[in-house]
Amino acid sequence: MHRDPTIARPMPAKRTPPARARTSRPEGKRKPRAAKPKRGYLHGYTPDEQDRLQRQAAFLADAVHDRLPFRRCRQLLEVGCGTGAQTEILLRHFPQLMVTGVDRSADNLQRARSNLARVPYCKGRFRLQQGPAETLPFGFDAFDGAFLCWILEHVEDPARTLAEVRRVLRAGSPVVVTEVMNATFFLDPYSPDTLRYWRAFNDTQLELGGDPYVGAKLGNLLLGNGFVDIHTEVKTFHLDNRVPAERTEFLAYWTELLLSGAPALAQAGKVAPEVITGMQRELQRVARDPDAVFFYSFVQARARVPSV
Ligand SMILES: C[S@@+](CC[C@H](N)C(=O)[O-])C[C@H]1O[C@@H](n2cnc3c(N)ncnc32)[C@H](O)[C@@H]1O
Repeated sequence: MHRDPTIARPMPAKRTPPARARTSRPEGKRKPRAAKPKRGYLHGYTPDEQDRLQRQAAFLADAVHDRLPFRRCRQLLEVGCGTGAQTEILLRHFPQLMVTGVDRSADNLQRARSNLARVPYCKGRFRLQQGPAETLPFGFDAFDGAFLCWILEHVEDPARTLAEVRRVLRAGSPVVVTEVMNATFFLDPYSPDTLRYWRAFNDTQLELGGDPYVGAKLGNLLLGNGFVDIHTEVKTFHLDNRVPAERTEFLAYWTELLLSGAPALAQAGKVAPEVITGMQRELQRVARDPDAVFFYSFVQARARVPSV
């Protein structure tokens, strides 16, 4: 009987785990890890947030989907597929692909199902499955490529997630991981309330078990999981008077992103209401300033499972 390798099934009892790179740290002197007391998701799963994810994927598509190495892939795994916004772009760019999206949110998967069902070229070319990134519900060697976008920043254990990705990929498969590097954000005119809010936004993400600085760590994480041919690219939005229209569009997008965390941050008492209103004022001022500067970088890493 033909068995679909992407359907969840119990893990085989034994298999040698992927080689993890050794570090020079002596046994018993492990690097202390920050306590991760809570789990959570700063952006939430409201219909507004789902709409925002759709707009975000379209808005950043040129930067995220530039020359992806999936032309020879047939079975692509997308971890943290959310509302299927990236899935739709992947299926458009690679007509031979079948994409399996996994996400822990049933609400986002439901939205992905209805979004993708409306797109003719996606018909019959995607599967969606609920599950945790850290324990992927797939067997060994089920896929020949993997795509992760804005997901490692939210998982409790990015190293374990990448170990899982490696486990389910065949030898030689490419993986592309796109992630935030939130220490890079700057605005001119100087906007102190926005920076206060941003600090609270990032600290809360850390408290919730995520990592808003994970972009800078992608090289180490991939190396530590035995991936090879690792390349990281820092992609920067440096928007000033050279590109005024793009700057205006981007500031509107960024304002929406910042405000997407505001209800959760205010409710948890992480930011004072005055800081949120101050930030809104500052963002309006930056949007009106003819000499405004927006600066932000994210990191995209490409790597491969070693060939046997
Ligand atoms: C910011 S969204 C990005 C969605 C999609 N990759 C995109 O770019 O539009 C992050 C997604 O990761 C999912 N997620 C967060 N932590 C997860 C975990 N531990 N396991 C599986 N999915 C997770 C969330 O449910 C959410 O759908």
